[in-house]
Amino acid sequence: MLAGLGAYVPPRVVSNLELCDRLDTSDEWIRSRIGVSSRRIAEGEATVDLAVRAGQRALAAADRRDIGAVILATTSADRLCPAGAPEVASRLGLGSVAAFDIAAGCSGFVYGLAVASSLVTSGAFGSVLLIASEAFTALVDPSDRLTAVIFGDGAGAVVLTAGHAGQPGALGPFDLGSDGTNADLVHIPGGGTRAKKKAQAPTTDSAPFLRMNGPQVFELAVTNMSRSVRRVLAQANCSAADLDAVIAHQANQRILDAVADGLGLGAHQMLSNLTHVGNTAAASVPLLMAQAAASGALCAGQRVVLASFGAGLTWASTVLTWPKVHSVVE
Ligand code: COA
Repeated sequence: MLAGLGAYVPPRVVSNLELCDRLDTSDEWIRSRIGVSSRRIAEGEATVDLAVRAGQRALAAADRRDIGAVILATTSADRLCPAGAPEVASRLGLGSVAAFDIAAGCSGFVYGLAVASSLVTSGAFGSVLLIASEAFTALVDPSDRLTAVIFGDGAGAVVLTAGHAGQPGALGPFDLGSDGTNADLVHIPGGGTRAKKKAQAPTTDSAPFLRMNGPQVFELAVTNMSRSVRRVLAQANCSAADLDAVIAHQANQRILDAVADGLGLGAHQMLSNLTHVGNTAAASVPLLMAQAAASGALCAGQRVVLASFGAGLTWASTVLTWPKVHSVVE
């Protein structure tokens, strides 16, 4: 069950107007087409650094140090090898605990919740620290106006502990899925073995920067997140009308609005922090969870759905009754 939340965003705020200085775009276009006014950009901090900060806060919120495993969900790893989780665990002073990364695009956190809660409910570990962290803007081509205006950096973390099915804070059921036939719709072509083993000559396609088909990703994000939420609600024997809040991947306000419309949700049920942080990839769901809990927007007893969609393609949803839980965001 959910026993503590933490989040960290780097201090540097980059407004739309600042991006307009170097890109052919406008504040009006970014706010109306995406819903972002500003984002946080990590300077001198990489994904593991952000993860350590969020992890410290989640451990403080849960008031626990007896962690059995650390899982890091990220699409912007510090290095291709090794995974970042072992370094996060040691920098948090957790010793030689189990530690590994999860790569499931922007769905990595909700995939990570499914893995972490299985590890706890199976009795393998008494508690798990799951962190989603992204210094994703390092992977965005600064000259690509389509992607450079969307993303931001940040990290969110949760501590999961053993509990009873059905009690507040217990996670599940889960709906997880993927569509590898659309792997090229949002991807980073360079930097991996494919670029090195198959490239005949260096091209812009081998650059380690995100490439995205915006309109197709938009459509598939709406379809797959909505379908995933419907499936998880059916498994949980409840309906959208029973929900107090949906925390969905913060990619584009128009995606959130379309998912809300399709599910028959009111605007108040679909939470959003997109305007101040942009799309923080896998970190977006736990960042919003932690901020909403800290601000009082999420309260004990509320029925909440978490939903995500990302590169892969991947999607994932789960449902929980919000517990009495601390959240540390500053
Ligand atoms: N500023 C101004 N104009 C821009 C622009 C920018 N930053 N980026 C694109 N445009 C222009 C395009 O060149 C195009 O111009 P044209 O009509 O003259 O050809 C026009 O805006 C529309 O482009 P399009 O790509 O159709 O825009 P869109 O309405 O689909 O919005 C996204 C683009 C990227 C915001 C939107 O497709 C989106 O959010 N997709 C999903 C992204 C996502 O979720 N990614 C993460 C996956 S986890």
